[in-house]
Amino acid sequence: MNSAGKDKWWVGVAAIIVAMVVGLGANAMLGSSSAPTSAPDKPATSTATASNAPTTPTANNASPQQTNGEAVNTVTTSAGAPQQTSGEQTTAAATSPDAPQQTTEAQTSASNTTTITTDYERARWNPIHFKPGIDKATDADCLKCHQEVLDDKVREVSPAGVKTANTLAWYQTLDTYEGPQMTFHQRHLTGPLIKKVANMSCTTCHQGNNPRDETNNTAADTPTGMTMRKMADPNVCLMCHGQFPYQNMGLPGPWHDSGAAFQNNCLLCHAAIRTNRHKVNFLKADAIEKEGAANSDTCFGCHGGRAWYRISFPYPRHSWPGMGATAPDWAKDRPTESDLRFLIQDAAAPTTPAQATAQGSKP
Ligand code: HEC
Ligand code: HEC
Ligand code: HEC
Ligand code: HEC
Ligand code: HEC
Repeated sequence: MNSAGKDKWWVGVAAIIVAMVVGLGANAMLGSSSAPTSAPDKPATSTATASNAPTTPTANNASPQQTNGEAVNTVTTSAGAPQQTSGEQTTAAATSPDAPQQTTEAQTSASNTTTITTDYERARWNPIHFKPGIDKATDADCLKCHQEVLDDKVREVSPAGVKTANTLAWYQTLDTYEGPQMTFHQRHLTGPLIKKVANMSCTTCHQGNNPRDETNNTAADTPTGMTMRKMADPNVCLMCHGQFPYQNMGLPGPWHDSGAAFQNNCLLCHAAIRTNRHKVNFLKADAIEKEGAANSDTCFGCHGGRAWYRISFPYPRHSWPGMGATAPDWAKDRPTESDLRFLIQDAAAPTTPAQATAQGSKP
């Protein structure tokens, strides 16, 4: 009885042990059967992270090329390349003077392939945003990713319930202001007035900025020549939004005081003074003269009428027929040519007014 009972007891224990072993085995089987999916899963995620990492230039290596799909690959080679260089540059820049050159070459070639990618960081650091890539970029290139800049409209009503149509700033009450309220970008690119007098492109204002630190020289590989915490250099804005420089004109006071004495007509003097003007790639020189002749408010609009600054722009002083031999004191340090990057490119510098007019009016 006893021994039989013992036997049974052992059978029971054995049964439990067998059950446990089978259970464990099954578990292990289950585990290993799910393992093939989950185990590669992990490496996959971590490579994916690594491929997103290019923001941090140090985390760069060739891996992005392998992980991403075909669509991204075109960009990977273009956008990835300069980042790799800059990644290397972090260590190399101090010792090798060649490193920056490599970056330049890589970026130049990269800027030719603007492919849309859904990789946010890669797009954000796309070399098209920076020199020298940005020098060749067309509006169409930028708009491939930034169409919203022109499409988005202002609200019709503010969150507090004020109707947009009822909130006009003083400068929006002038004759030259046409149409409903628009966004900043629309006013400078597609608005009725700007289309008449100017031919601005994205790169007239945008010359790159540093999305990481918003300033220059915080690391060996950050872009240089940027304006701190700004996406555009305010000197560009100042050209069209400075004060009316009446002192330089020998006028007794601001235009709203002194203008009446000159029939509120800029051309009374400027038909003969500083006539060599506006021959830059973002203005339509001939159209400006036409508009200005009809209404001097068009001239004033860019030369004091929309002054967001307390100073005026130190305009280059181009020579003009009949100009005096000696420059006035305030003009002693003025350049005699417009900024290089605004010169009209497709021909030698315009020499005759006719040529200049033809070029200035190009869209
Ligand atoms: C491949 C797509 C792509 C192209 C092409 C592109 N951008 Fe961008 N850009 C981005 C992305 C993505 C961001 C980040 C957007 C954000 O953070 O809201 C960005 C950000 C910007 C910013 C804001 C930068 C900041 O500090 O937040 C400016 C300004 C800008 N781009 C201008 C341009 C201009 C000008 C061009 C043409 C020369 C251009 N972009 C071409 C994708 C692109
Ligand atoms: C008149 C100068 C000017 C022109 C022309 C211009 N921008 Fe801008 N852009 C700015 C300024 C100024 C900002 C705002 C910067 C800030 O908020 O710090 C800006 C901001 C941006 C931003 C950041 C997001 C936003 O909407 O604030 C993007 C993207 C951008 N611009 C793209 C473009 C593109 C693309 C074009 C050409 C189609 C263009 N810009 C033309 C001056 C300009
Ligand atoms: C080539 C000349 C030119 C440049 C450069 C320029 N603007 Fe303007 N800006 C204008 C004109 C013209 C208008 C008026 C447009 C209109 O009334 O339709 C204007 C209008 C504005 C307005 C009023 C927009 C509105 O809806 O009422 C603001 C704000 C402004 N500019 C800011 C800037 C800033 C900031 C920059 C530099 C990033 C800049 N502008 C560069 C010519 C220029
Ligand atoms: C009484 C004649 C007179 C009138 C009227 C006049 N100007 Fe002038 N303007 C001058 C003279 C003189 C200069 C300086 C010429 C020189 O460079 O020696 C000048 C220079 C300028 C300059 C260049 C300033 C600089 O710092 O380089 C601008 C811009 C200008 N005028 C715009 C206008 C506009 C716009 C109006 C009308 C709203 C106007 N002027 C009306 C006589 C006039
Ligand atoms: C859309 C804005 C705009 C309008 C409208 C405009 N100007 Fe200008 N003006 C500028 C800019 C920008 C410059 C500097 C261009 C450059 O860098 O050469 C300039 C330069 C000048 C200069 C300096 C010329 C020189 O020696 O280079 C004079 C004078 C002048 N403008 C007078 C006028 C008169 C007169 C009118 C009307 C007939 C007028 N402006 C209308 C934007 C404008």
